[in-house]
Amino acid sequence: MTSRIAIITGSAGDIGRAIAARLSNDHDIIVLADLDLEAATRAAEKLGDGFVPMKLDVTDADSCAAMATATAAMGDVVTLVNNAGASRAVSLHSTSVENWQLDRSLNLDGAYFVFQALADQLIASKGAIVNIASVNGMGVFGHPAYSAAKAGMTHLTKLIAVEYGKYGIRANTVAPGTVRTQAWEDRAVANPNVFEEAAEHYALGRIVNPDDVAEAVGFLASPLAAAITGVCLPVDCGLTAGIPALARTFSQSDDY
Ligand SMILES: NC(=O)c1ccc[n+]([C@@H]2O[C@H](COP(=O)([O-])OP(=O)(O)OC[C@H]3O[C@@H](n4cnc5c(N)ncnc54)[C@H](O)[C@@H]3O)[C@@H](O)[C@H]2O)c1
Repeated sequence: MTSRIAIITGSAGDIGRAIAARLSNDHDIIVLADLDLEAATRAAEKLGDGFVPMKLDVTDADSCAAMATATAAMGDVVTLVNNAGASRAVSLHSTSVENWQLDRSLNLDGAYFVFQALADQLIASKGAIVNIASVNGMGVFGHPAYSAAKAGMTHLTKLIAVEYGKYGIRANTVAPGTVRTQAWEDRAVANPNVFEEAAEHYALGRIVNPDDVAEAVGFLASPLAAAITGVCLPVDCGLTAGIPALARTFSQSDDY
């Protein structure tokens, strides 16, 4: 039997590690592909057997090609999770051309580069792709260049779904709301109550945790989602459905 491989980019991070742990339930090898090889190696050691750290810069097509060569020798790549992502610029006013390009490169171009490098292997395996976008790609919540790139990533998902569906490839997007991760460190220092304040806007009264995202990815990558492709699934505790405080203001009803 050939090994079933899942590749997760940015997998040394908090959400990536949770996805890796979830996908180990139904994959033989989990490739923890990250720019930070030391952190990926630490994560692999902690997660246990079957987790393989790998250096990857998603913004570098040659690095993506090198990863594809390595995984081709390991087994069948059946799942790709484009999870590497981050944002630098917080508002349009404070965005520089350089920051715009960096955010676009990491959050949009990177997902395309990784897909492009692995397309043949995913065709061969009739594989599944899950792109980790964000609620920021669906509405305006700050971080404009990142948000535009995540909206582009959601469209890239549809492009793959429609053009590669004939090969049996499925592609879907997961759009998380606020998740407490290292990406929030600076904001948590600036405002120690940032997560409590954010939670007040969510219908469920809480923010998302990494395992919430991982379960959605696990489902979309599995045969349970065999007829689902090209969709964007918000994992956002209701944020994109509506904001209770606004509904209260608009309706002047305490029912919200
Ligand atoms: N944390 C949130 O609130 C939140 C909300 C919505 C969406 N997301 C998305 O979830 C994903 C994971 O976010 P997180 O909060 O776990 O981030 P994180 O900062 O904890 O982890 C991101 C990982 O990506 C890696 N990385 C950075 N640049 C890379 C590159 N060029 N090539 C390969 N790897 C690279 C980093 O080394 C890091 O390990 C991101 O795509 C992010 O946009 C996060």
